[in-house]
Amino acid sequence: MVRLEFLKQLAVLSAILKVAPALAKGITDTDISRKVFGDDFFWGVATSAYQIEGAWNIDGKGESVWDRFSSKPGHIKDKSNGNEAINFYHSYEADLELLKSLNFKNFRFSFSWARLIPDGTGSVNEKGVDFYNRLIDKCLKLGIEPWAMLYHWDLPQVLEDRGGWANRDILGWFSEFTEFCTRRYGDRVKHWMVLNEPAGFTTLGYLSGIHAPNRTGIGKFLASVHHACLCQAEGGRIIRRNVNQGHIGTTFSCSHTEPYKLKDSHQRAAQRLDVVLNRLFIEPSLGMGYPYAELPFLRKIEKYIDPGDQEKLKFDFDFIGLQNYFRVVTKPSLIPFIWANRVKPEDGAELTEMGWEVAPEGIYHIIKQFSKYPVKEIIVTENGAAFPDQLINGRIHDPQRIEFYKRYLQKILKAKNEGVNVSGYFAWTFIDNFEWAEGYRPRFGIVYNNFSTQERIIKDSGYWFRDFLK
Ligand code: NOJ
Repeated sequence: MVRLEFLKQLAVLSAILKVAPALAKGITDTDISRKVFGDDFFWGVATSAYQIEGAWNIDGKGESVWDRFSSKPGHIKDKSNGNEAINFYHSYEADLELLKSLNFKNFRFSFSWARLIPDGTGSVNEKGVDFYNRLIDKCLKLGIEPWAMLYHWDLPQVLEDRGGWANRDILGWFSEFTEFCTRRYGDRVKHWMVLNEPAGFTTLGYLSGIHAPNRTGIGKFLASVHHACLCQAEGGRIIRRNVNQGHIGTTFSCSHTEPYKLKDSHQRAAQRLDVVLNRLFIEPSLGMGYPYAELPFLRKIEKYIDPGDQEKLKFDFDFIGLQNYFRVVTKPSLIPFIWANRVKPEDGAELTEMGWEVAPEGIYHIIKQFSKYPVKEIIVTENGAAFPDQLINGRIHDPQRIEFYKRYLQKILKAKNEGVNVSGYFAWTFIDNFEWAEGYRPRFGIVYNNFSTQERIIKDSGYWFRDFLK
């Protein structure tokens, strides 16, 4: 009897040790190691074509919406553009070697649609195809797994001229592009993602217009939402068909929404923002339809829904890419349709260069929220911070960024230890790059870039990752 009790206790103890290795090791707030995440956890960095490649009109590349948008005065805060960016198109070999030296085994990049198919559909630009062949082969040679994102916001301008994401024809254009990429690269690339942050490019690009293609209006926005949701699922199906043993995901920008005050009205405001920020794109893919209940104006999307679409919106992704930077504290407001607004972080709150509040608890809550959906695997496909780095005697000491990573990783680990299947983490980003409408001022990299000379300098946070991943 005593022996049985002892064996039971042993079983409980070993279960705890299995799910909570960090607790068992007595991890403190600053003490964290790679081992506690498990040996098969994916560690990587995330990048995107327009933000790093440059070579905007070289070797047959077509114009993208970001090439056009950034060429117009008033669009980019520091009057810059991504024409040269960090010149990754020419320096990818040395950059990937640098990545390897930091002990990362996974590299996330995106295909520039306009580099591969300059007119959006039809003729292929073989020089562009060759660039991604060389990039993928170089990764594999170095023992780095390539993670391909199909669409990271840089639509070919010719397709935008035909209505872009607001035109239902995008479903055909995007399918052709996806067929093409998966057939050309699917023999070597196993990890695929369909869309980067659809909430980002539809709200910023088609509602507020502060990003390319600079369009505004509720109709354009809702049309682009529905078409992005259709492409998201169709892209998944095409990858499944064409890539043998593909690991298929798509990414969502996610921010935990919290009421400013514990009042019903504030709670309802938080729920309304939650719909737009977190639920709008994942729920249709899970067969749950659009989340109309909290936001009645969303019903206007029905205008764009054809018979049979509800089925087409569904796809059984292998993983969900969760991208998180901050939390959103919410109160009611007079902003039409949403009737909610975010409350500025309190005085004294720790802010990044983007003005975003450092709130590691938020990533924990949003992971837990997403884990309630029937998803198989969650990967944090972006997380990171911009701080005003200073180059002093050839070094960049960025203790704030190191702390940021440690504290967010702690919270991810907490969710993992509570049983959520979080299986990877991608830092945003590898090397400082073009931060969209903000230009080059916010530096998100763990490697510093001198934008005049294109010299790379590893920041202390880069060295921290190198040692952490050793
Ligand atoms: C999300 C986007 O995917 C990425 O392109 C951007 O640079 C980061 N967030 C930081 O804002």
